[in-house]
Amino acid sequence: GRPAHPRRETVLVTGAAGFIGSHTAVELMAAGHHVVGVDNFANSSPGAVDRIRALAAGGGSFEFVELDLRDRAALAAALRHCPVDAVIHFAAKKAVGESVEIPLDYYDTNVNATLGLVETMLGHGVNRLVFSSSCSIYGDAASVPIREDAPARPTNPYARTKWMCEQILADVCHRYPDWHVTSLRYFNPAGAHPSGLLGEDPRGVPNNVLPYIAQVAVGRRAELSVFGDDYPTPDGTGIRDYIHVVDIAEGHRLALDALGEAPGHRVINLGTGRGTSVRELLDAFAAACGRELPARVVARRPGDVAELVADPSLARELLGWKATHDVAEMCRDAWNFQRRNPNGYADGPAGATTST
Ligand code: NAD
Ligand code: WQD
Repeated sequence: GRPAHPRRETVLVTGAAGFIGSHTAVELMAAGHHVVGVDNFANSSPGAVDRIRALAAGGGSFEFVELDLRDRAALAAALRHCPVDAVIHFAAKKAVGESVEIPLDYYDTNVNATLGLVETMLGHGVNRLVFSSSCSIYGDAASVPIREDAPARPTNPYARTKWMCEQILADVCHRYPDWHVTSLRYFNPAGAHPSGLLGEDPRGVPNNVLPYIAQVAVGRRAELSVFGDDYPTPDGTGIRDYIHVVDIAEGHRLALDALGEAPGHRVINLGTGRGTSVRELLDAFAAACGRELPARVVARRPGDVAELVADPSLARELLGWKATHDVAEMCRDAWNFQRRNPNGYADGPAGATTST
């Protein structure tokens, strides 16, 4: 069974300044864990580190080291300076379209850096890891909801990097039977911290639909382009399983606590099991911000599929985890972050306020 009082641990969090890493750092500290965060700010900013510190509560602590994870010497030095019990590995590049343009950069950052991380862990006697994987591994799944045993059919370089890392981690666990690794396959993370301090702050034009809608709502973008309304779905727009980033963060804390229960490599979906169409998401955001949001239907985006929804029952069974926030809360919290930080972390320090 699950320990009633998981022990406090020191956890290396790679990509700690990023969207999901920052929320997870706060979640871990609230549970009393000590976090050693690393990031090179390739897709984030130092402002996120200040805000993680501002949200520290519950007895945990946060140390931060700026480094490029591909720099193995820098990582080894960080682990010598701050020994850790376990690792949560978020650092990666995540834009599907960009991965087609610069595949080698994706293999370098996502796969090569993961090899370096595993080697460094071996060198320091650290054998417990939670890895950020992705529903993109499933590609155009034959049927929804998707279970973890659905075949992997990655359709772009980004998804292939995640699938390769999972296979590498399975091989490492096979070779080193004392290793404990969980790959969490997230569906569509969205939303923000309810304080309004942490959220999604993509560089340039957002690739993902929710931050795009949020920037329309705040006046930074004219209208949402709806990528196709001729899919075989009730309203014709694509259906996804949006999951609140705070639920994702909690899933990582529980996966960390559960690592000791089973040696080897486990793969677990993090999703809600509920699908939401682009039109439904737009309506939910309009309700959250209190006004109509302009949108125009354009052609389908190449590579998109009609519907991706998780079967999250394994997470419930193995981790005791279940998403508790719905799309309305994701929109409320994303809007709260966006209107308090119209230009993201570039707006500098902000006072913590709640959205309710
Ligand atoms: P993010 O870009 O906000 O966070 C990733 C962080 O890694 C960034 O802060 C970036 O600066 C850092 N990073 C990148 N390259 C680095 C390097 N070489 N050295 C050190 N740090 C580096 O993205 P996110 O949404 O928080 O995603 C976190 C993880 O979850 C990624 O592995 C991503 O592939 C995975 N994931 C994300 C989603 C999603 O839609 N957000 C879905 C499934 C899986
Ligand atoms: C969602 C829906 C679009 C933008 C991506 C990655 C996946 C995972 C999650 C990392 C789709 C529609 C979008 C817009 C739109 N990330 N859309 N207008 O494509 O499901 O998944 O993020 O692992 O790997 O592929 O997310 O937010 O881009 O799109 O109509 O401007 O919104 O067609 O139906 P996606 P998304």
